[in-house]
Amino acid sequence: MSQSTDSGSRGSFSGRIGFVLAVAGSAVGLGNIWRFPYLAAKYGGGTFLLVYLILLVTFGFALIMAEITIGRKTRLSPIGAYKYFCQEGKHTGIMLGGWINAIVPMIILPYYCVIGGWVIKYLIGYLSGQGPAVAEDGYFGSFISSSWEAPAYFMVFFACTSFIVLKGVDAGVERASRLMMPLLLLLGLCVAIYSMTRPGASEGIYYYLVPDFSHFSIMTVVAACGQLFFSLSIAMGILITYGSYMKKDVDAEQATSQIEIVDTLVAMLAGFMIIPAVFAFSGADAAEHLNAGPSLMFITIPKVFASMGMGSVIGFAFFLMVFFAALTSSVSILEACVSTVADETHWSRTKCILVMSAEAVVIGVPCALGFGPLGFIQLAGMSILDMLDFLSCSVLMPIAAIATCFLVTRVIGLKEMSEEIKRSSAFKREAVFRLCITWLAPAILIIILVSSIGSALGLIKI
Ligand code: PFF
Repeated sequence: MSQSTDSGSRGSFSGRIGFVLAVAGSAVGLGNIWRFPYLAAKYGGGTFLLVYLILLVTFGFALIMAEITIGRKTRLSPIGAYKYFCQEGKHTGIMLGGWINAIVPMIILPYYCVIGGWVIKYLIGYLSGQGPAVAEDGYFGSFISSSWEAPAYFMVFFACTSFIVLKGVDAGVERASRLMMPLLLLLGLCVAIYSMTRPGASEGIYYYLVPDFSHFSIMTVVAACGQLFFSLSIAMGILITYGSYMKKDVDAEQATSQIEIVDTLVAMLAGFMIIPAVFAFSGADAAEHLNAGPSLMFITIPKVFASMGMGSVIGFAFFLMVFFAALTSSVSILEACVSTVADETHWSRTKCILVMSAEAVVIGVPCALGFGPLGFIQLAGMSILDMLDFLSCSVLMPIAAIATCFLVTRVIGLKEMSEEIKRSSAFKREAVFRLCITWLAPAILIIILVSSIGSALGLIKI
């Protein structure tokens, strides 16, 4: 997203492929490789996967289309786009949705960079030839519980992100990641095949692919929906902003399908690398590891590499590619924050970057310490990182998405929305869009919101 609004004239992507590649660069990141597998492992494997896929093709599709179209029509970032349609005093509640869309990336940025820091730690571990040590059981635990390591690595990852945004060199990073992305897929495929063919792994493949409805709970839907938002960058203003750079004649429906396919394939591949490996390498501890949460990738993947023989080389290559995927996403998150602050305050770009950097450091450092010295800060069993993740994905994003549904149905109007989409697309899935945006999405989102808040406050047990 190197185009800036500073010049007054809005840049645009060269065409559909340019648009799809840019959105995919932002969408494919830690959400696919780190977050998806640990949620799938924790929330029932095949059951989670099925719920995720159903949500993806129904209201995931509708929300992506809605956000891109709102951006394309208004040529504004989220707050401005909401203001464009809403009347002062009449649609205050919906307008609040524009603000929430803008605030979400500010909450995600710090903890995303904490995980980015974990990736750098492993990258350096492999580079310095510590492959076997990295795969040992206590390695991850002692790293994140140390009082300086996790914050220091967070700062390094964050410094890379803000340097790129400050210097405006994201085009170079995008070029590098365009090379890294196919390599990541290729390496991921090899690792997935290796991991699926280990003794004991078939149980993991079964767990990952075959739904067992005894694992189903409303939490499966809450987690799958949060993941859908996180991974596809829905309900965080990003797609509205990208849509505003899209040319009017680009087929938004086809672009949406392509983005969904790429993003989901990468996430599923990461699941194939990690979940069978949990069963193959953790033996009797498999059940405990399935519940490991955010640490899962960092515990399981090194064990796979260690068993491969030349694990250090592959480990280094893998974490280097994950680093690039994470960096393109973190750059787009910081860009989104900066463009919102710049639009609202008219401060210089440098000042906006400095303000957002200060915010990220103030939140990110405690978050990085939340598994060690600040481990006593817990809410409903959640660490600081889990709390920020929960707040953004399970509370604020559903609210922002409900606001988008209401903006489309009550303010813009379905007819006008359809006409706008049909300017460039045959809009084959119009019926799905209408049904989801009017009924299905708001209904599911309200249920999700009530259940997640209720469970965090201990009011309901799910
Ligand atoms: N979708 C990205 C991922 O899956 O890693 C993360 C992300 C990108 C979150 C952009 C938020 C954002 F604004």
